[in-house]
Amino acid sequence: MRPATRARLKPRPIKIYSETMAQIMQTQNRNRSREWFGRAQKVLVEGVNSPSRGAAVYAGGPLLVERGSGSRVWDIDGNEYIDFMMSFGALIQGHAHPVVVKTVSEAVVEGSHFAAATSAEVEAAERFCSMVPSAEVVRFANTGSEATMLALRLARAHTGRNKFLKFEGHYHGWYDPFLLGAHSHPAERLGTVENPARIPDSDGIPLSIFDDVVLAPWNNVDALEDVLRKHGHELAAVITEPIMANMGCILPREGYLKRLRELTHACGALLILDEVVTGFRYAPGGCQEYYGVQPDLSTFGKALGAGFPVGAVAGPRSILERMRWSEKMVLHYGTFNGHRLTMKVIAANLDLLSAKDAYRKLHAVGDAAIAGLREIFRRRKLKAVVQGFGPMFQIYFTERDGIHDYRDYCKFVDTKLYSRFVHNLLERGIYMTPSNGLHWIISTAHTNADVEALLAAADDACAGLS
Ligand SMILES: Cc1ncc(COP(=O)(O)O)c(C=O)c1O
Repeated sequence: MRPATRARLKPRPIKIYSETMAQIMQTQNRNRSREWFGRAQKVLVEGVNSPSRGAAVYAGGPLLVERGSGSRVWDIDGNEYIDFMMSFGALIQGHAHPVVVKTVSEAVVEGSHFAAATSAEVEAAERFCSMVPSAEVVRFANTGSEATMLALRLARAHTGRNKFLKFEGHYHGWYDPFLLGAHSHPAERLGTVENPARIPDSDGIPLSIFDDVVLAPWNNVDALEDVLRKHGHELAAVITEPIMANMGCILPREGYLKRLRELTHACGALLILDEVVTGFRYAPGGCQEYYGVQPDLSTFGKALGAGFPVGAVAGPRSILERMRWSEKMVLHYGTFNGHRLTMKVIAANLDLLSAKDAYRKLHAVGDAAIAGLREIFRRRKLKAVVQGFGPMFQIYFTERDGIHDYRDYCKFVDTKLYSRFVHNLLERGIYMTPSNGLHWIISTAHTNADVEALLAAADDACAGLS
C-alpha cells in the first residue's frame, strides 16, 4: 500500500467506519465494563489474570472485551474498536478467522485432546520445520515461557555448563532465572554499562538463582565482547530477542546479530533466539530468516498458534534429541503438549501464512501505518519517533532521534505521555495497551481502511495531548 499522503492526513473529524461505530461515538459508555470489573475484583487478583491487563495499565479499569471479528473487537458495553494489540501479538490472522473457526469447529467434535500421538501434531511439525530455517526438529509446549525454559535446560545439558547470558530489558517469560533486569527502571538505578544493576523482576525467587545469570547491555558489540571475554567459557547459552519487543520495538543495529552469532560460537555457548514475538511475523521463517542468522535453538509462541496457546523449541536433532527417553534425558513433560486443537490450528495457520503475498501485505499495511503516524507527529510538531517496520512497531515520545537499547528507553522515553495518547485513542475506537513497553501489531485481517481510521483517530488524539 502506498504511504499515506499529506492530503489524506489533513486534520479532520473522526471518520465513522461502520454503523455500530457511528452509534458508539455518540453513546460510548463503559458502564458495564466498570460493573463487571467491580465484580472481578472480588474474585480475581486485581480483577484480572495478568498484571498487564488491569487497572495498573488502564486508567479507570480495563474494557471487558467480549467479542472479536477480523480486525475488530467489541467490549461488553457494545463499543467497537479496531484492535492493534491483537492478544499481545498472538492473533496473526485477526479474530475469528473463518479458516481457524472451521478448523476448530470440525476438530472439537472429534475430541479436543488425547495426550497421545496424533496425525495433527505431525502435520503441524512438518509445516513448522519446512518454514523455520534452523528447525530440523521441533518440540511443542503450551506457552512461550515453557519454550524458553526448555531451551535453557537443553542448552545446559548440551554444553554441560550452568551459566547463561541474558540482556537488559529482554523478557523471556516468567521462569525464575529469566526474571532479572526485564523491567524498566529510573535512570539512576541502572548501574553502568560495564556493571549493570541486577534488579530482580519478581519477589519470591531465591537470589541464588541469579548466580548463574550474566546480565549485559544489548545492541552494543564492545560491551558484548567484553562480557564474553570474562564469562564466555562458562556460558551454556546466550539468549536474545532478535528485535527487542518488550521495551517497545528496538531493532538490532546493523550486523549486531551476526556478530553475536560469531561470538557465542567462538566461546562454545549456544545461541538461543527467542522468536516468541517475532516468529512467523516478519517472514515465514521469523527473524532468523529475515536477518539471516542461524541460531542453535529458537523459541516460538504467540503468532504460531493464531490465538491458541502454544510454545515451541526448534533446532538440530543433535540437541533436541536429548529429550529422548533415557536415564540422562532432558525432561519435558506436559499433559497439554501438542494439544490436538492447537496443532490443527497451527497447520491451518501456517498454510495461510505460506500463501503468496501473505507477508508482503502484512508489511505493506504496517509500513503505511508507520509512515502515516510519523507524518502526523511531524505535522503536529510532537517529539515522537515511530520505530519498527511492517507488522510490528512502537511509538516513543522522546527528544531523541531513536531508541536503541534498554538504557535509552529508561532514560529518554515519556511513557506517561504515551499512556495518555493511547487512552485518547481508546476513546476514539482504537484498542491498544497503554503500556509503552509493548508494541503495535498488524495482523492479516488489518486493511488500508483500518490504517486510515487509525491515522484519523491518532491525529485527533494528538490534539488532546497538549
Ligand atoms: C520474547 C518473549 N519470550 C517469551 C515470552 C513468554 O511467552 P508466554 O507469555 O506465551 O509465556 C514472551 C511473552 O510476551 C516474550 O515476549
